[in-house]
Amino acid sequence: MVMGLGDGEQYLASDIHALLPVTRRFVYLAEGDVAEIRADSTRVFDEEGRELVRPIKEAHFSADAVQRGEYRHYMLKEIHEQPTAIADTLEGRLSGGHVLTQIFGPRAVDLLTRTQAVQIVACGSSYHAALVAKYWIESLARVPCQVEIASEYRYRDFVVMPDTLLVTVSQSGETADTLAALKLAKGMGYLGTLAICNVPESSLVRESELSLMTRAGPEIGVASTKAFVTQLTALLLLALELGCHHNLSAQRYADGVAQLERLPSAIASALALDPQIRALAEFFGDKQHALFLGRGTQFPIAMEGALKLKEISYIHAEAYPAGELKHGPLALVDDEMPVIAVAPNDHLLEKLKSNIEEVRARGGRLIVFADSSVSRGITHAQEILLELEPCGDLIAPIVFTVPLQLLSYHVAVLKGTDVDQPRNLAKSVTVE
Ligand code: G6P
Repeated sequence: MVMGLGDGEQYLASDIHALLPVTRRFVYLAEGDVAEIRADSTRVFDEEGRELVRPIKEAHFSADAVQRGEYRHYMLKEIHEQPTAIADTLEGRLSGGHVLTQIFGPRAVDLLTRTQAVQIVACGSSYHAALVAKYWIESLARVPCQVEIASEYRYRDFVVMPDTLLVTVSQSGETADTLAALKLAKGMGYLGTLAICNVPESSLVRESELSLMTRAGPEIGVASTKAFVTQLTALLLLALELGCHHNLSAQRYADGVAQLERLPSAIASALALDPQIRALAEFFGDKQHALFLGRGTQFPIAMEGALKLKEISYIHAEAYPAGELKHGPLALVDDEMPVIAVAPNDHLLEKLKSNIEEVRARGGRLIVFADSSVSRGITHAQEILLELEPCGDLIAPIVFTVPLQLLSYHVAVLKGTDVDQPRNLAKSVTVE
């Protein structure tokens, strides 16, 4: 809980974002605190009734950060803020072609050197970011990485391998299940705990030994966009840093850093697809279902694309690793089913092309987002192709996220749903 301090009025909320329109001054309450709130004063006591002094924190966001400005919805504004949010997240984290180790905290070198396995726990979009990180960590650092949804993790008998680093990912740092998983894990013999989070004062950061802040700024739209891509950026920094301590070749490391440096401009060029995607959204006007396909790091991106579409347009959407089509989802494919495939230029492209062929043979309505250098012939007449500029393999999942966000946004606008406040959903899920 956080108290917002006003002038002749005081507030209480579970997240500062709810209070940013009315105040920038906050007092964070700790577990067990009792707050007395009156119109012109606030006091905090411990469980025994002793008065405590809790520091007042100021949120230093510009007025623009919490206003819609020229944009019709916060979500659209936040999608367009992504190049800046990523540049801010990288600011002071890379230098001379290297990731700066101290950005994770003072004990980082010791912990990351000793790390023999990584366990990531998260919910929602943060879980999808973590799934991409699994591919990066295992490929770059050759360190085994497991990812689990926090609400599952906390209620099962998990096994902790020696020297495992526990990583939590959360934009708010207040998600009840992720916090509970962290608290539970603390007594289970992990090597250490690292939080990737967008709110420095959050419970998750306060409870973790190491942390890396994303710098997305306040995200008002319930469906996560800029928070998600900055999480991916932070996780790629982590994978490279871990790789640096675990035999990642100097060449691949330098290539990874160079790709990160190009990321803000790659995102900006993906945003230029906006008018084409707005036109494409018309196609979804009467659709009830959609299937998203990806392979490798693009499978979690397909999951994120499906989640965005579900969340804000209320169209039922599912994501599958394209190689799994034959094991069930092909039965759903007919000429009513939009099938959205994500096709970067990577080692799985030829495999994905065969999967696209399987959809085509069943009459599915194909929409392909492809790297322009390999898009030739990937779609046939009557099918829809949107081309993205070539980008590096490591940043491709971050770049391909953008058109999927724009697609769900424009479909939702067309359907007239409440884009920023979708029904039944909350920005911070602070209860189980
Ligand atoms: C809610 C939000 C999602 C978010 C999820 C996890 O469901 O609507 O956008 O991904 O919580 O939140 P966290 O703050 O832990 O990232």
